[in-house]
Amino acid sequence: MRQIGVGVVGAGWMGHVHSRAYARIPHHYPDLAVRPVLAAIADPIDALREDARDRYGFAASYAGWEELVADPAVAVVSVATPPFLHAEIGEAVARAGKHLWIEKPVGLSLPETERVADAVVANGVVARVGYNYRLVPAVVKARALIIAGGIGQVTHARFRMLTDYAAHPMGSLSWRYETVRGGDGVVGDLLSHGLDLVRHLLGEVDRIVADTAVLIPERPLATGPGGHYEIAEGGPHGTVQNPDYAACMLRTAADVPVFVEGSRAGVGDQNNYGFEIHGTTGLVAWDFRRPGELVVSSGGTYANQPLTTMLAGPDDGDYGRFQPGAGISLGFDDLKVIECAGLLGAIAGGKDDDGATIEDGVAVSRLMAALREASPPMWSRI
Ligand SMILES: NC(=O)c1ccc[n+]([C@@H]2O[C@H](COP(=O)([O-])OP(=O)(O)OC[C@H]3O[C@@H](n4cnc5c(N)ncnc54)[C@H](O)[C@@H]3O)[C@@H](O)[C@H]2O)c1
Repeated sequence: MRQIGVGVVGAGWMGHVHSRAYARIPHHYPDLAVRPVLAAIADPIDALREDARDRYGFAASYAGWEELVADPAVAVVSVATPPFLHAEIGEAVARAGKHLWIEKPVGLSLPETERVADAVVANGVVARVGYNYRLVPAVVKARALIIAGGIGQVTHARFRMLTDYAAHPMGSLSWRYETVRGGDGVVGDLLSHGLDLVRHLLGEVDRIVADTAVLIPERPLATGPGGHYEIAEGGPHGTVQNPDYAACMLRTAADVPVFVEGSRAGVGDQNNYGFEIHGTTGLVAWDFRRPGELVVSSGGTYANQPLTTMLAGPDDGDYGRFQPGAGISLGFDDLKVIECAGLLGAIAGGKDDDGATIEDGVAVSRLMAALREASPPMWSRI
């Protein structure tokens, strides 16, 4: 068993989730050849950094990410900062010869994502990107079903990434709403997950048309650290610079039409993520809010063909690492443990995993760049 020092950059929501994932690795993957040791945490906000250090027992804490990357005790770095820092930190991590677990969308643009990917390849390090929904055991089951022809030939599909963290008009104007720090808003934040699922389940995308919209044009300036659901009543307001809503219609390389929709400001949509994929003989559908369930229609009766609910179980992905029998729901944090195990297994050189690689990150960034060019669409006036 080889110990490997890990550092986490960013002590916000994802920084905590990554830290907990490393800590839980020995519980769920005792057979992994490498075992993470929490070496360092970095965040410029003292209170957040020291709280994370105390909670998880990091050996060191730094205000600046540069010190963390230079720390010889750190061999793997999680990048859980806002996207405007992804490229600079991700590239520096790889150049330092350290392995990389980086949150989506890996930078603000295709050139930024490519910068990170080039450094990863040139320095021969392992990288995984936080497109975690592909690792849900029920999604693994859906992919296997599609590949096995369980719904026939895929004909058309819908993917949705709809939530409400920005639905409150007093939701604070954090980095998420600025172009220079938050990029394309809901596109990189949520639609990117949907685009990764499209590629993972249906193959490469060939062409795209898109539309985006700002639903709440002004918000009060942030007074706190800028977490997802933060409210800032009163005070001066500023302009939202990137879309709250985005939708695209695309065709895969197999010419399958797919609709993908993302919103961060839909009242009543609480992490309403999922898909419905239709085939010539069936349907497979998944909803993140019922993560262990897969709704399937399969057979040869076409119209009025019944739907059944299949429950994910120990044969689906890494489910068996967590629970012994079907129907015991895994949670969001569990996905990150699976993602983390994939990264560490790849570093150890022995374990196949379905986690998103840096090449997957580049492919999603390329799609987002195409989406940008394809929006606004060519409207037909009525
Ligand atoms: N995979 C997922 O499902 C998922 C979910 C949420 C967020 N994310 C991604 O994770 C990343 C972080 O999002 P979050 O929700 O955790 O944001 P957050 O605002 O909660 O946390 C970001 C943290 O980064 C810190 N930070 C800012 N500048 C820094 C610097 N120079 N050095 C070190 N730390 C710095 C901030 O102080 C803050 O604590 C984003 O890229 C986001 O898209 C992914």
